[in-house]
Amino acid sequence: MLKDLGCSLPAVYPMPVLMVATYGEDGKVDVMTVAWGSICGMDKIALYLAKDRKTLKNINARKAFTVSLADEAHLKEIDFLGTASGNTMSDKFERTGLHAVKSKNVDAPVVEEFPVTMECKLEEVRDCFGEMQVVGTIVNVLAEEKTLDEAGKVNAEKINAVIFDQFRNTYYTSGKEVAKAWRVGAELMKK
Ligand SMILES: Cc1cc2nc3c(=O)[nH]c(=O)nc-3n(C[C@H](O)[C@H](O)[C@H](O)COP(=O)(O)O)c2cc1C
Repeated sequence: MLKDLGCSLPAVYPMPVLMVATYGEDGKVDVMTVAWGSICGMDKIALYLAKDRKTLKNINARKAFTVSLADEAHLKEIDFLGTASGNTMSDKFERTGLHAVKSKNVDAPVVEEFPVTMECKLEEVRDCFGEMQVVGTIVNVLAEEKTLDEAGKVNAEKINAVIFDQFRNTYYTSGKEVAKAWRVGAELMKK
């Protein structure tokens, strides 16, 4: 039986956990946790940021950012980076003990510990129902070698990606492969 829950907490599940890394105008690294984001237009990524985020200021200043997939090995750091702000904590990134190097392709840092990172050039920032929609073009993807399959593709099972449940503010890890997309439903196409 379906029960009405109203719309006090609408959510989709799973949501990604994305780590957005930027440089401030002073060259300082900031990394923030983002769950409201997705791929769009094939080579683009859209993030939805509250207006007061230090990350948003940095993106506007440097016109670039990187987006990494969060992994289970760094849960503590991931949660912290989604709680503390570079606006008020000058050593936010240093406290995590993570390491960042400058991207070869965009004016943004790459956090070395995360398994997959997209290097993004800013395309546009616009108001979207009170939050700022930040759209970037992905100019390159970096992946830790041990997450790749024999064909050189990222194997999701090897990332141990963290996913977010907004219903209960809880982290999960992504599970096992269950079927191939565009194949498991093929039987119904034949009817
Ligand atoms: C799991 C999780 C997901 C989050 N998703 C978003 C998001 O999509 N957009 C946003 O503006 N803030 C989001 N936040 C909050 C920011 O990460 C947080 O405010 C952070 O301190 C911002 O850092 P900054 O001010 O250094 O950029 C999220 C936090 C957590 C823990």
